[in-house]
Amino acid sequence: MNEEYAIEIENVSMMFNLSTEKVDNIKEYIVKIMKKELLFQKFMALQDISFKVKKGEVFGLVGLNGSGKSTLLKVIAGVMKPTEGKVVTRGSMAPLIELSAGFNPHLTGRENIYLNGSVLGFSRAFMNENYDAIIEFSELHDFIDVPVKNYSSGMLARLGFSIATVIKPDILIVDEVLSVGDYKFQEKCEHRIRELLKENTTVLFVSHSAQQVEDLCDRALWLEKGEMKLLGMTPEVMAAYSGA
Ligand SMILES: Nc1ncnc2c1ncn2[C@@H]1O[C@H](COP(=O)(O)OP(=O)(O)O)[C@@H](O)[C@H]1O
Ligand SMILES: [Mg+2]
Repeated sequence: MNEEYAIEIENVSMMFNLSTEKVDNIKEYIVKIMKKELLFQKFMALQDISFKVKKGEVFGLVGLNGSGKSTLLKVIAGVMKPTEGKVVTRGSMAPLIELSAGFNPHLTGRENIYLNGSVLGFSRAFMNENYDAIIEFSELHDFIDVPVKNYSSGMLARLGFSIATVIKPDILIVDEVLSVGDYKFQEKCEHRIRELLKENTTVLFVSHSAQQVEDLCDRALWLEKGEMKLLGMTPEVMAAYSGA
C-alpha cells in the first residue's frame, strides 16, 4: 500500500440479497424467514472493482442509473462493507452521497450544521468558527432557523455542500448532489471544488453532467452493471461513454 494514494480499491465486490416474493406484513416476513421459506436472489451490484486515486486528484465515476456508482461511493465512505475486497482511504473524508444523510429532518438548518459537524468529527468550537462561512456559501440566511424537513432538495444540497467543503476534508465525495441545485449554485460549487484542489483535496465525483465531469475530472471510471467498463483519462472515457 502506497502513501501517495488517497483511495485504494482492490477487487471490491458487493452482493445484495433481493427478496423475490412480495410479503404483505412484517409478521408474515418473520414467519417465512423462520420457516426458511423466503427466497432470495443474489444480486451483484459491484463486481471485482480495482483502482487507485492519487492525493489531489479529481476522479469521476460515470454510468447509467443502477450501474453501482452510489454503492461504490458508500463502500469507499465506509457506510457499507463490501462483500469482498479491500478499501483503503487516507485522511479525513466528507461524503455527500445522499441528500438527507447526516441531517435530522426535525432540527433546524442551524442545529443540523452542528449535528453534521459532530458526525464528521469536528468540535462545536470549530463549527462556531466556520458557521458564518457555511451560511454565507449556502445562501440560506433566511431559512437557517427552519426545520430542514421544509427545505427543498436544492436547499439541502446547498447546506450539505457548504458544510462539507468549509471544513476542508482531505477527501471529498460528491454524488450527484450538485445536480439538484440551480445553474448558479452548480457553478459556485465547481469553483469551490477548484479551491479545495489547490489545497490538495482528493475528489471523487459522480455527475449526470458530462460537461461537469469533463471540466473537473483528471481521470474517470465508467461502470456498467457493476463492472469496470473503462478506466482512463477523462476525454477518452467520456468519448467512449457518450458514444455508447
Ligand atoms: N441496499 C440495497 N439493497 C439491494 N439492492 C440495492 C441496494 N442499494 C443499491 N441496490 C441496487 O444496486 C444497483 C446499483 O445501485 P446504485 O449503486 O444506486 O446505482 P447508481 O448510483 O449507479 O444509480 C441497483 O440495481 C440498485 O437497485
Ligand atoms: Mg446513484
